[in-house]
Amino acid sequence: YMAEFVERMKGIRICPVLVIEDKNDAIPLGKALLEGKLPVAEVTFRTAAAKESIALMVKEYPDLYVGAGTVITLQQCKDAVEAGAKFIVSPSFSHEVAAFCREREIPYCPGVLTPTEISMAMSYDIPVVKFFPAGQFGGVQTIKSYAAVFQNLYFMPTGGVNLQNIGEYLSFSKVLCVGGTWLCKKEFLETKDFALITKNCLEAYELSH
Ligand code: 3PG
Repeated sequence: YMAEFVERMKGIRICPVLVIEDKNDAIPLGKALLEGKLPVAEVTFRTAAAKESIALMVKEYPDLYVGAGTVITLQQCKDAVEAGAKFIVSPSFSHEVAAFCREREIPYCPGVLTPTEISMAMSYDIPVVKFFPAGQFGGVQTIKSYAAVFQNLYFMPTGGVNLQNIGEYLSFSKVLCVGGTWLCKKEFLETKDFALITKNCLEAYELSH
């Protein structure tokens, strides 16, 4: 069940991290991502609208790979899965979330920063970890050091990723994909600027494919 996550993320390469305050933005936002050639949405549990936004996107767009982000507690994870999320991303590592996802066969990409945290993730046979916040902790150089010792592991750096550095991240073979909020900033949703979101996605797509 992790294989689909690995294959899809490897193909898409860039994971838009979304902070949706108003569930009415979910449908137009999904359309904006699809038109921007990035058919994936990481809907973060930083807002009360996360669960419903996931459900709306899942129902409306079968081709959009909809997952949940900023999943810290088991309850958030259960809510995400109930809403139809296809994958779970965390800023940290949770044994509870890892065990639940393994049992339900839902891909879980936990946040890690240290070798010990990587080991904990690997003990659940997790093939991809989110390296967060990547920019503040050495970026691609740190990932290279980790990749040398933790073989058969992919990384999804997030935190400080932008158009200027995606090339550097994605050129390293163990970087499966990158994630970030720059494609869909809070203010773009406040002004309902979905065209700008599509433009940002297309720009990122061109740089990464
Ligand atoms: C995340 O949840 O992955 C991070 O907030 C992304 O970090 P960024 O805002 O620097 O892109």
